[in-house]
Amino acid sequence: MNRFSILVGDITRSDAKAIVNAANTSLLGGSGVDGAIHAAAGPELLEECRTLGGCETGRAKLTRGYRLPAEYVIHTPGPIWRGGNDGEAAALASCYRSCLELAEEHGIETVDFPSISTGVYGYPMAQAAAVALKAILDFLRGHDLPRQVRMVCHTEQAARIYRQTYNMWYAGSKAERL
Ligand code: APR
Repeated sequence: MNRFSILVGDITRSDAKAIVNAANTSLLGGSGVDGAIHAAAGPELLEECRTLGGCETGRAKLTRGYRLPAEYVIHTPGPIWRGGNDGEAAALASCYRSCLELAEEHGIETVDFPSISTGVYGYPMAQAAAVALKAILDFLRGHDLPRQVRMVCHTEQAARIYRQTYNMWYAGSKAERL
């Protein structure tokens, strides 16, 4: 059974147990997927976020999902792209790992990710996809939870890049039998 998949959609409509929010370090909302998640979750989400005292880039914090279909939101600030020589890849990988570790700690079985840092933060999609896929698939190989992880791309173009990256690195390998 393949525990990882890629789809096109609006993550605020996801029925996963937890969805990941591409947040900023204040955790007090923003535009992009952050804005969409807060709008769909309602004001209680911001109220809970205010109690968290922010979050460092690459780390993750958990809240409830409130009016979202998802029970939980895992907030993680991704790196701002500064050309690729400022530790961006390591910080992005840390985002994915931190979210998956938090999900495992809380027994969360299904997690949907957006493509962290590839919008406002300017991370080139193809480079972000390579980092994201490696971090996710490495984690799934070593852990039983989450049972299922999906990359929810907002556009067909983004999904195409993720699928191409997946096929280049993982298709036909043991990743298929995760
Ligand atoms: N569902 C799924 N993916 C989405 C959605 C959505 N509803 N809306 C946007 N996206 C995608 C974007 O197309 C992009 O590929 O999420 C990815 C991340 O883009 P951003 O939301 O801009 O996040 P990021 O690049 O990590 O920048 C974070 O932007 O919104 C602010 O507060 C946030 O300061 C933080 C910064």
